[in-house]
Amino acid sequence: MFSLRMRSSLKGKHISGAERIVKCEKVGYAVFELLKRPPEYDEIVLKVEKVNNIVKVNSLKIKEYRFKSVEESRTFIIQLLEREGIKREMILKYMNEIDKGANPEGGNMRGAMLVDIERGTRLEKDRSRGVRTVRVDWENREKVKRDFLRRGLTERTVDALAIASKNVYCGVIAEICWSDDPHYVTGYIATKNLGYVRITPLKREGSPFGGRIYFLRGDEIERTVECLENLACLVRY
Ligand code: COA
Ligand code: AMP
Repeated sequence: MFSLRMRSSLKGKHISGAERIVKCEKVGYAVFELLKRPPEYDEIVLKVEKVNNIVKVNSLKIKEYRFKSVEESRTFIIQLLEREGIKREMILKYMNEIDKGANPEGGNMRGAMLVDIERGTRLEKDRSRGVRTVRVDWENREKVKRDFLRRGLTERTVDALAIASKNVYCGVIAEICWSDDPHYVTGYIATKNLGYVRITPLKREGSPFGGRIYFLRGDEIERTVECLENLACLVRY
């Protein structure tokens, strides 16, 4: 099978990224799909790479909640995550960083921040970059997409659920995510036990700041990052 990864930029700024893992005969169609993904760009970089080892991982189950305000949504996720053993102070501290733009050079990070679940310290080598979950797709993307759109879910959820499912497989104990798209206020938390919990609104309308927090065990950092970045995963629906 082949891993296809697309990233697009406009005036030197990253606009969007997307990826697929497909059989040889589907590479052409997947390239076509990835190329029409970014609405506007002046450069696209597309990588096509053969992958030999692929693991199949189970999808997390989706739950959905809506609240009247960001404050209510966040109170709710803090309660859920505290029950999963994540300390309230850590959650608040790193959510505040994302709200302000967690990249020390300004704006958003280019990947997720990694937090030691026991010490509350940051674990990634580069705090502007963070770590990205890459080489992940659905076993049957077309069916998942059809079902999700019929259920009123977005294509973004198709991609985010694949990432969250791989994260749990790789050893991420809990994830918090909201988009940097100013008009997409739905976010999620994910753990093995809770599944994928989709929450609206997790950020304020109009905010250009978003990010991901991965809570993990400090002594498993190397194995987990290797898995997140390099292990090819197909998620089972
Ligand atoms: N955000 C910002 N910049 C990004 C980026 C991202 N998500 N992905 C890549 N870049 C830019 C960075 O400048 C990066 O350099 P860095 O490693 O110093 O940060 C550069 O592109 C090269 O990145 P690389 O990791 O080599 O890209 P890749 O060819 O392996 O492709 C993507 C990775 C683009 C497929 C992956 O990052 C991605 O976006 N996947 C899709 C995630 C998704 O589905 N999101 C929507 C649902 S929430
Ligand atoms: P998005 O949902 O695409 O708006 O991404 C929200 C935030 O998640 C971005 O601002 C990045 O900080 C981070 N991010 C983007 N892509 C990835 C990825 N593949 N893995 C981990 N974090 C990512």
